Amino acid sequence: MTVDAPDHPAPRDGIGVFDSGVSGLSVLRALRARVPAVPLIYVADSGHAPYGERDDAFVIDRALRLTEHLLDRGARLIVVACNTATAVAIEALRTRWPATCFVGVEPGLKPALAASRNGRIGVMATRATLASARFRRLADQHARGVDLRLQACVGLASALERGDPDGDEVRSLVSHHVAPLRAAGVDVVVLGCTHYPFAASWIQQALGPEVVLIDTADAVARRAIDLMGKLDAGEERDAVAELWTTGELDALRRASTRWLDFPVELRSWPPARVADA
Ligand code: DGL
Repeated sequence: MTVDAPDHPAPRDGIGVFDSGVSGLSVLRALRARVPAVPLIYVADSGHAPYGERDDAFVIDRALRLTEHLLDRGARLIVVACNTATAVAIEALRTRWPATCFVGVEPGLKPALAASRNGRIGVMATRATLASARFRRLADQHARGVDLRLQACVGLASALERGDPDGDEVRSLVSHHVAPLRAAGVDVVVLGCTHYPFAASWIQQALGPEVVLIDTADAVARRAIDLMGKLDAGEERDAVAELWTTGELDALRRASTRWLDFPVELRSWPPARVADA
């Protein structure tokens, strides 16, 4: 299933990162800033996004295929840079590859509680994340008795994936989804989908400057690096960053030009044949 060309030897001992689309690039950027000598391998599953509106079996199947590809390319640790895939599929990945270390991303309820003064916290996430047993456990563990306002932001990740984060579609979806949180008087909002930080300035504007936004990309990168430990041997040179997509290469090129400030190698990965959910 790999598409390794002979002139593309797999980098070894890297960190593999995947998301349903380009938004996991925020995690990749945080990783690169901290460990420039570690090879990074990323897959944007844009050909199968959005995950948040798919059923669990579909997301698990995609997560297994993407992880296999990342491991084939030399990843030693996998960052699931997608709240939805973490919520739905990370247990299946750990069961399939028990010796591999997986780091997931979850809505930052714990930092949200620490930041809140009035105890009213908004959570913006996909429908699948909010409906998952894993999210319910997280809320039980960290936010029992807290006034959580859950907002399933249907359409927002897709709109961000498709195009311009400053365009009309994104702005109107943001104001639609933020309105109930604003009306509820939340003072902290968790960005529980890795796409949403790309619309953070509009979300902040819609909520008002006094509301704190919580994004966990940097915390996830720190956790992955702790687990990688000795792999960052402190080499001088910058390691390769491979970016793969199951969607359009041009979309990945635009996103990486916009969000990353280091050189990357872009590659297409023809989507595997899977039945649509
Ligand atoms: N960016 C992903 C997340 O963090 C999923 C968005 C989607 O594909 O629906 O949840």
